[in-house]
Amino acid sequence: MATSTPESTQPEGVVDAASTDNTSTDTKLAHTHNIEDTNDTKAGTNSCVTKMVPGIALQRKFRHMYRNVNCLAPMVRAGTLPLRLLCLRQGAHLVYSEELIDHSLVLCTRKVNAEFDTVEYVMPGTDSVIFSTCAEEKKAVILQLGTANADRAVKVAIMMQNDIAGVDVNMGCPKPYSVLGGMGAALLSKPDTIKELLTSLVAAVSVPVTCKIRILDTVEQTVELVKVIEATGVAAVGIHGRRIPQRPREQANYEHIKAVRAAIDSDFPIIANGGSLDYVHNSPHLVDFREASGCDSIMMARAAQWNPALFKDGQVKHVCKRELSEQYLKIAMEHGHVFENAKWNVMNLLHFDKDPKRARGVSAARGYQEICTVLGCEAVYKSIPAHKLAKIGRKRPLALSAEDVQEHKAKKLKEGIIASEDSYVRKEWAKNLRPKLVVTEWLRKNQLAPIAVTHVEQEGKRGFQSVVTVDGKKYTSLRFSSNKKDAEHAACVVAIEALNIPHERLRIDTNPEARTNAVKGVSVPSVVEEAAES
Ligand SMILES: Cc1cc2nc3c(=O)[nH]c(=O)nc-3n(C[C@H](O)[C@H](O)[C@H](O)COP(=O)(O)O)c2cc1C
Repeated sequence: MATSTPESTQPEGVVDAASTDNTSTDTKLAHTHNIEDTNDTKAGTNSCVTKMVPGIALQRKFRHMYRNVNCLAPMVRAGTLPLRLLCLRQGAHLVYSEELIDHSLVLCTRKVNAEFDTVEYVMPGTDSVIFSTCAEEKKAVILQLGTANADRAVKVAIMMQNDIAGVDVNMGCPKPYSVLGGMGAALLSKPDTIKELLTSLVAAVSVPVTCKIRILDTVEQTVELVKVIEATGVAAVGIHGRRIPQRPREQANYEHIKAVRAAIDSDFPIIANGGSLDYVHNSPHLVDFREASGCDSIMMARAAQWNPALFKDGQVKHVCKRELSEQYLKIAMEHGHVFENAKWNVMNLLHFDKDPKRARGVSAARGYQEICTVLGCEAVYKSIPAHKLAKIGRKRPLALSAEDVQEHKAKKLKEGIIASEDSYVRKEWAKNLRPKLVVTEWLRKNQLAPIAVTHVEQEGKRGFQSVVTVDGKKYTSLRFSSNKKDAEHAACVVAIEALNIPHERLRIDTNPEARTNAVKGVSVPSVVEEAAES
């Protein structure tokens, strides 16, 4: 297996983000960008650079990182640590993370996992590792953010910048969860938000800032957009050669990217993306891919997801998918990667596998040992020390550390929300006297405004968090729930405790006697019960 040290993952001329950071975060944050100024100073001579605002001058130094590079494109589920490392070892220069939403990351706590030599950003109150990285990829991993909020993006980027090589903003995702939140492709029609997001990041962080867009309806429109982006001072832009409504099976438009490239200052790096699969089939040489797009840097998604050996330029066809899967599994186990995601990625690696029995076996595997047996690489499984294997996939303790609790309480308080570790344990509450109903009834009895609920987090499997407004104050639980209803109850438990609302918790919620006596002095009309449970 070809390996590369972190140093060797960067092409010549790359400026190490860490070594160029001689501007303190505070100084950079204090600076306000003037976009017209940046246009005046973009001639590119050294003397001009020194006159630039610090953030922009720094980003200019980072441009080298995006020249003549082959990148792993951002991919949800695929772009996790093991695939990124496998692609780097195959020769990729930069590897993008899957898109991660600022709402989640901003709540995360950084943890060093000494067992696996990884750094993890963990959602407090859950065992969810939102982002995991390690020293080997430190100079090559680009964190892709899903964001439409400059303050949150800056907070996240500052918190994580010492663990990453750069930060990228997703401006191309057409999925409803992105667009409805004003993120992804929704940004393409909001140049003011783009300017605010990118100038804020450029001013605040010490690592390269980039964004990834899609082409617009006409070349002129795309050129105009890229000029707006360039003027913010970012280090580079990635362009996916498909318009928002275009599906992946449709041909990427390289003529469009080529025309944009020709119209933009040649010093500003553009990374071409889209249609990598066509190139795997048509030519094993990445140089053809570059020539077709007119760009010296390219970014590959599906072709790399199915065959990371693509990065071994020119040798795409001569690759054993089983061997790649074996390498992937070794990396995944060595870094304590969650099995379900590893299995999904191995299934993608075996995409063109000619052996259907093997593919079915992988699909049915329930753990690393089984999947290694199916692939005939038991030795790889056995090579992982037993104490590490024992920790993989094991749920991390749910308890929050005292520091976590204090930190997150303080964070929430700044937002005007009273938070605590209190959570909702269904068994402790009679069915007709659950926390939301207890609060609803208390408000009714005291002739106060009805309860108001907002959901601040909705991260699919990653859990839900609600904020309830009770008598003018907001309450939330620091613990995430598996569904919205439980999240509302959890927030109500916090309100109940904070306001001393009369209630009683059950030991066994099937006990009819306990149910009858559950809440002292609270009568429960059935209509209210229906409303609360709906
Ligand atoms: C599974 C999958 C997940 C993706 N997730 C992201 C993402 O998180 N962020 C993003 O900007 N693009 C995402 N994309 C789009 C790719 O980065 C890329 O723009 C697109 O697939 C075209 O490149 P390709 O032809 O090389 O596949 C995703 C694509 C795939 C197939």
